[in-house]
Amino acid sequence: MTSTAAVRRIVKPVVFLAALGPFGWLVYNAFWGDLGVNPVETITNYTGIWTLRFIVITLAITPVRWLTGFNPLILFRRMTGLFAFFYGTLHFMTYFILDHSLVFAGVWDDVVKRPYITAGFTAFVLMIPLALTSTQGWIRRLGGRKWNLLHRLIYITAIGAVLHYFWKVKLDTTFPVYYGILVGVLFAARVWQRARKASPARVPVRANPGAPGL
Ligand code: HEM
Repeated sequence: MTSTAAVRRIVKPVVFLAALGPFGWLVYNAFWGDLGVNPVETITNYTGIWTLRFIVITLAITPVRWLTGFNPLILFRRMTGLFAFFYGTLHFMTYFILDHSLVFAGVWDDVVKRPYITAGFTAFVLMIPLALTSTQGWIRRLGGRKWNLLHRLIYITAIGAVLHYFWKVKLDTTFPVYYGILVGVLFAARVWQRARKASPARVPVRANPGAPGL
């Protein structure tokens, strides 16, 4: 079995189950009534932080692949991106159903008036086209260039998510700042890689220099 096939058949299902872990934790604690004094707040904060973690993990896959040369990592990008959307949907639905009793006018009022909700809502809404077009069929339909362009929305989502967290916590901004730094480093890695690729200093090496005439 090649390493890619092994990753596909063994590691991927394990990672999938691990990514469901936070959801399992929520269901387990909800079942035992163990979500603290304010369960709605606990669920919102917990699903929110896991949304952000999966966004960061998704953004990290490509730079870590460059760094390690371990190409099968790419097989996880779609899965982690969809898990970010899954936790983001749980997060938004908790707020929509439990905080606003499914009245969208109330949500929109918050979107317009509270900057941290504006940022979170923008981040979430931009994830919708990414999730919808994450299939091979959509890659084919749009073509690689357009698809890649569309999927750059993840950068705006990441910025919106960090701002949302930063503006939400108000007092102790330590963790939002850590996440901001992490996202900044991951963006910088991409810029650096692009610059490296574009650099004229990278003279292509011939496969078999000097072969003709020998
Ligand atoms: C990519 C999208 C989003 C991400 C990554 C995200 C992330 C987060 C994070 C990290 C927190 C704070 C967790 C903590 O303090 O421990 C949070 C809180 C919160 N988020 Fe989001 N969020 C997103 C979208 C949204 C949307 C669309 C809404 C609603 C329209 C929303 C509403 C809230 C609310 C109300 C809280 C505070 C909960 C409370 O303290 O009771 N978020 N979010």
